[in-house]
Amino acid sequence: MDGHSSRLQPAGDNSLVELAREVSLCRRCSLRESSTHIVFGEGDDKARLFLVGEGPGAEEDKMGRPFVGRAGQLLNRILQAINLSREEVYISNVVKCRPPGNRLPTGGEVEACLPYLKRQIEIINPQIIVCLGSLATRALVDPKAYITKLRGQWQKMGTRYIMPTFHPSALLRDPSKKKLVWQDMQKVEAVYKSLNQVM
Ligand code: URA
Ligand code: URA
Repeated sequence: MDGHSSRLQPAGDNSLVELAREVSLCRRCSLRESSTHIVFGEGDDKARLFLVGEGPGAEEDKMGRPFVGRAGQLLNRILQAINLSREEVYISNVVKCRPPGNRLPTGGEVEACLPYLKRQIEIINPQIIVCLGSLATRALVDPKAYITKLRGQWQKMGTRYIMPTFHPSALLRDPSKKKLVWQDMQKVEAVYKSLNQVM
């Protein structure tokens, strides 16, 4: 891909593979014991856009892939709406193992797993991160953030831009939120396009 190949990649080619290997051996919390597969993440390892969810659900746990259930199908449509495919972005979660019964990950589980997400972000080095929902926004932007207040407003993390928006599961529960997510993702599309023009 034209723009991609000219990007400087400070990290070695194998660092994402090495990180995935480390995660595969992880026992920092008890979630691995009750889960089937680790869901490390997938997509372009040089993606400019990195989407962060909460944690694997039942389908993801079965497949070992992020966002493959109902929320994932909606996420695919959201990406299509801004002319992006799953293949050109990177998708992962705050926690890599499924919390039993789809409960929220605990603070301790987030603390244990978050360093992996942060290293993933460093290695992939995206310019834009989309935080899907409250948990990802609190983990990466502000532990006291309210998604209803912060969504749609660009945040900064070092040199990266972060867009918090609602989680696709929230849209399945409350379709009236879709309009706001379209608006947020249109902002993402505009910045994504402008990055591609200058690089
Ligand atoms: N919800 C998430 O937060 N992540 C997934 O991978 C799937 C559903
Ligand atoms: N409320 C939402 O709408 N989405 C979340 O992810 C959390 C709370």
